[in-house]
Amino acid sequence: MFTPDTLREKTFLVTGGGSGLGRAMALGFARAGAKVAVLGRRPEPLQETVAAIQALGGVAAWASADVRDPASVAAAVDSLEAELGPINGLVNNAAGNFLSPSEELSPNAFNSVVQIVLYGTFHTTQELGRRWIERKTGGVILSIVTTYAWMGSAFVLPSAAAKAGVLAMARSLAVEWAHYNIRCNAIAPGPFPTEGAFSRLMMPGAQEEALNHIPLRRFGKPEELADLATYMMSDMASFMTGECVVIDGGEWLYSGQEFGHIAGYDREMVKQFMAAMRPSKKG
Ligand code: HXC
Repeated sequence: MFTPDTLREKTFLVTGGGSGLGRAMALGFARAGAKVAVLGRRPEPLQETVAAIQALGGVAAWASADVRDPASVAAAVDSLEAELGPINGLVNNAAGNFLSPSEELSPNAFNSVVQIVLYGTFHTTQELGRRWIERKTGGVILSIVTTYAWMGSAFVLPSAAAKAGVLAMARSLAVEWAHYNIRCNAIAPGPFPTEGAFSRLMMPGAQEEALNHIPLRRFGKPEELADLATYMMSDMASFMTGECVVIDGGEWLYSGQEFGHIAGYDREMVKQFMAAMRPSKKG
């Protein structure tokens, strides 16, 4: 589907691009021909992503910044643009999350997740958006949320509240910044087994149970998310804005369906039961 020309003349910034889904997207963009900037707190994973992209023959740069701090974001974008040229796409991927009973959250625990996810997304979005508006170039923003951005979720209250805010931000700016030819979309992934997410969110022994809630009966592969992001960031999606695409193997629909659990039973047995329950024809 994608060639090394798909993202030619694109330079994309991926926050949290040193690991997990951010790294997978950074590599996917590079394979499709983009120059890639990665930003995060720890230099080592960022350097590793840049080296992996360079090993593919791609062009990449990294800068260390905490998305919670707007001044450090601005300085990082300055240095990345000095190295790679103007950035014309942003992926808000950096996130913070952990499982906790909500009544036990300290103010700082709530604050740290909301600062990373919601404020961090605002800081990077505003930093790049201002540059694009001033330069009159347009741009594209993709924010990674989750399916509980609209459902809410027990035990991840700060993340759920923040991701709902990020989704509202994407939809708000899709309308407001269409005037500047800036597209704003979101992706809502279900479970993808990355170290960062699963070490914090998957309780021991919970993987089998989690799989039972996914109609496609497997977790996502990072490159599947990267392919979707590549499409949504590319000019192939130039009429798409304000959209949130779910990629979760059917998990969130399953969670709300009255009879969805039947799809997990032995299909021949289900058919026999349903045939037996069918009223016999009169006469
Ligand atoms: C309760 C906790 C906690 C936990 C930290 N805190 N972990 N409280 N339960 N498990 C509290 C601390 O005690 C502290 O409060 C406050 O949170 C800040 O913690 P720090 O470690 O000082 O903060 P910081 O170093 O900034 O780290 C931020 C973090 C950390 C969010 C806590 O986990 C992190 O850096 N995460 C980044 C990567 C990540 O989370 N990836 C997963 C994303 S997955 P006090 O009061 O003691 O000072 C995702 C999508 C999931 O978001 C979708 C699934 C379908």
